[in-house]
Amino acid sequence: MSDLQSVRGTRDFYPDEMRLRGWLFSHFRAAAQLHGFEEYDAPMLEHETLYTRKAGEEITNQLYTFEDKSGRRVALRPEMTPSLARMVLSRAGALPLPIKWFSIPQCWRYERMQRGRGREHYQWNVDIWGSEGVEADVELLAVLCTFFGRVGLTPTEVGLRFSSRKVLQEVLDSVGISGEQFAAVCIVIDKLGKLPLAEATAQFEELGLGTEAVVTIQHALGLHDLDALAEALGDDSVAVAELRALRTLAEGYGISEWLEFDGSIVRGLAYYTGPVFEAHARSGQLRAICGGGRYDRLLSSFGGKDLPATGFGFGDMVILELLKDCGQIPELDGSVQDVVFALKPELRPAAMEVASRQRAQGQSVDLVLEEKRLKWVLKHANRCGAERLLLLAPEEWERGFVKVRDLATGVESEIAPDAL
Ligand code: HAM
Repeated sequence: MSDLQSVRGTRDFYPDEMRLRGWLFSHFRAAAQLHGFEEYDAPMLEHETLYTRKAGEEITNQLYTFEDKSGRRVALRPEMTPSLARMVLSRAGALPLPIKWFSIPQCWRYERMQRGRGREHYQWNVDIWGSEGVEADVELLAVLCTFFGRVGLTPTEVGLRFSSRKVLQEVLDSVGISGEQFAAVCIVIDKLGKLPLAEATAQFEELGLGTEAVVTIQHALGLHDLDALAEALGDDSVAVAELRALRTLAEGYGISEWLEFDGSIVRGLAYYTGPVFEAHARSGQLRAICGGGRYDRLLSSFGGKDLPATGFGFGDMVILELLKDCGQIPELDGSVQDVVFALKPELRPAAMEVASRQRAQGQSVDLVLEEKRLKWVLKHANRCGAERLLLLAPEEWERGFVKVRDLATGVESEIAPDAL
């Protein structure tokens, strides 16, 4: 029987789960579209080399890869950003800037299973290319807050923590660590909470960071206040200026309540270069709801000319756990409006005529195809969430009418087919 189970870490979506997924995606789409983003898509299968990066990121160790029948090394995408970069690069110069695009791809990672993490997930991606100011980063935060508001979450339940990779860059510059090591150091820092201390220290040492440097880094990472950060990095710090600008712009959007500066946010992907952010449940119970940041130098790593870019990825799993915890999962009915039923087999063609007429009018109609008792049909109509039951009864049909039962009120009436 084991072959009949879905592969560990993957999900089947039965219709009730699919309804919930459709609801979630409709809010992903609406929040992006309200901010002027356009939808795109790309194949789930990519060349493995698209994900070859050397900074020691978890994501590159979790790839699902295989060789296709012609010997090509391919991978199931673990994230959308490299595909997006590939699309932008292959139309370099031809796309009007800025690009504001979103997508809801399914992504695959061979992860350790835990609440809110699977081996496949759908990840809402929202990205802006060709806009270098912090205005673009804040616009993304505004998209997130629009989404949270739409699904009934408030700053009491969700916080957006932000920092900038430039904070760490400046700290590393001050202790003499070269640019080359930068991404690798960020990856170790992102893992700090998950790695045993001795192992983290060993990894830092391998990257050339002595005890003193680690203490300096940890001080900056422990800060939760931009003034304290300014004290640590100096008045002329570019990172501080950028983060202060971000705060001011966020006030314009009216989203300050959601935001929280947190020096420990670096994110675990090598390509981020500037502001980085993630959303968290304030309860502290769940892993990051989403994460993103600025990645201005990704295209040159593919051999192209760089273009400023910023974006985020937002999985479908943690958010549903959070909505469950907050009692915010909506009750969703099916989309059937009318159920049509012939009380006698000889009225089947008439029932089909009525159903077809209604469907041509754009009504969603479920026609009962089997011989059933009226009691069953009523129960079925309720299960479908239908608004009306259209009954083909011999006497009424003879007189040119359909018997209509309003399922909310139970009131019955007789209506001619063309007036339904
Ligand atoms: P990421 O931080 O690796 O970023 O993932 C972003 C989000 O995807 C996570 O915060 C989480 O919601 C969801 N996610 C990731 N892995 C899993 C998993 N195994 N199961 C369930 N959910 C998961 C990226 O992927 C970047 N490409 C995002 C980005 C877009 N940055 C710029 N643009």
